[in-house]
Amino acid sequence: MSLTQLATWNALAQHKPEIESQHLREMFAQDPDRASKFTTEAANIFVDYSKNLITEETISKLMALAEECGMQSAIADMFEGKKINNTEGRAVLHTALRNRSDRPVMVDGENVMQEINACLAKMRAFSNAVDSGEFSGYTGKKLRTIVNIGIGGSFLGPKVVSDSLKPYWKEGYDLKYIANIDGTDVAEVTKDLDPETTLFVVCSKSFGTLETLKNAEACREWFYSKGGKLEDVKHHFIAVSTNQKAATEFGIDAENLFPLWDWVGGRYSLWSAIGLPQAIVVGMDNFEKLLEGAFQMDEHFRTAPLNENLPVILGMLGVWYHNFFDSEAHAILLYDEYLKELPNHMQQCDMESNGKRVLTNGEEINYQTGPVIWGGTGTNGQHAYHQLLHQGTRLIPADFVMPLKSQNPIADHHAWLFANFLGQQQAMLEGKTEAEVMAELTAKGMSEDDAKELAPHKVIPGNRPCNTIMFEKGTPETIGALIAMYEHRVYVQGVVWEVNSFDQWGVELGKVLGNAVFDALQSGDVSAYDSSSAALINKFRESM
Ligand code: F6P
Repeated sequence: MSLTQLATWNALAQHKPEIESQHLREMFAQDPDRASKFTTEAANIFVDYSKNLITEETISKLMALAEECGMQSAIADMFEGKKINNTEGRAVLHTALRNRSDRPVMVDGENVMQEINACLAKMRAFSNAVDSGEFSGYTGKKLRTIVNIGIGGSFLGPKVVSDSLKPYWKEGYDLKYIANIDGTDVAEVTKDLDPETTLFVVCSKSFGTLETLKNAEACREWFYSKGGKLEDVKHHFIAVSTNQKAATEFGIDAENLFPLWDWVGGRYSLWSAIGLPQAIVVGMDNFEKLLEGAFQMDEHFRTAPLNENLPVILGMLGVWYHNFFDSEAHAILLYDEYLKELPNHMQQCDMESNGKRVLTNGEEINYQTGPVIWGGTGTNGQHAYHQLLHQGTRLIPADFVMPLKSQNPIADHHAWLFANFLGQQQAMLEGKTEAEVMAELTAKGMSEDDAKELAPHKVIPGNRPCNTIMFEKGTPETIGALIAMYEHRVYVQGVVWEVNSFDQWGVELGKVLGNAVFDALQSGDVSAYDSSSAALINKFRESM
């Protein structure tokens, strides 16, 4: 039976007008316990979801839908290593990478925990060797600038980790990223590097991604141009990949090649050796604390009842808005400068996972799936796009994320940050009525007529949903738990929409067509192209 034919789906559709007939202001006024009813905490992540367009009945109906969609068994299937990535015949086990218990995780009859733990030990040994200088540059100097060469999941998640854990960076280290095929990325990053003290880490699950290979080659050329020799490459280039052959052909010493497994999706790989550059910089102890925090969230997700389960609650709230209120986007608003890259990572994680148009069985879908994920830091966003959140015609649910304690307490900045964090949420909730606007304007001495003319522009409807997500401090543990919570939310929605959240065939066509355009640029043969593309290829060729 199709999702939209389920009894629990239809119960929600029938329930919606009841919710639409109320304003969040009224809901709070009617129930003084509303906040405590819709607040929960797991793995030190506190979530108040009371500012959503919901009643207790809505939540129980959403949970009934989750249950009818087989949420519990879908969660168990993922943790138990069932091949839920059906189009690639793969298990999905990023959770095994952060399994801090003795529980075995089986893939094809083998416990993969041994390999994972061996990899963690290798990462620790390598990180220590870089620290001590035992693994040093070709002139014997310590390696202190780490350059992460990778794109997509081999860039975005790792960048969130290193940015958010900036206060934990070891002294003397620097970490840079090269991702884009735009030569500017390589040029700008290599411009100030010292070849004797730089370690390039080529991070590519496939070791076949055009951008990463081209950038790795460009960095190797740069290294040669600065005096490095072929035999020195192994002191300055290491790799993380499932593709040993391609990595060793590039010149990576097999000793310095870190493994990855096909059951780790690229966008879920920050927990693996893909996180080695970050582990070197923040230290392996902190990297393991990150894993520990994620593990705490995994345990919660795996065992908590649906109606107390943070990722399930957040995921089902998203379903509520995207499918029943036609909301097309979801904003992640960070009141924490260190977390500014989270929306970029979640964009890939969510949109590559759930940007799907067919069911797992290949049938076309007749409802909305993955939302557009976007966001940024507060208070900057308040002076930019929050206007649309408050007065635009679209309903965009938002997450407001903030630590209780600042890593950088300066004067009363953090209290001001919180004041804005909460003020924005109140504005979304309460808005400003016409009567309030009129009273305000006339109190300032404006005539009744002038006030009436201006009032519609100043009215803010409110009743716009948001979640408050808080934690004590941005420690490795809480950052791990936070990212894991967001990852699981994606899976929850994928389960309801019955899509394969772990493949990404849609990105392949663009890669193939890009290769063909590159060939046409060399040959000049544009006969296969439409008139627009042919003219553009010719125009570009003229500038080559
Ligand atoms: O193009 C999409 C993608 O396959 C992502 O899923 C992945 O994170 C990224 O490319 C990079 O892939 P790799 O780690 O194999 O270089």
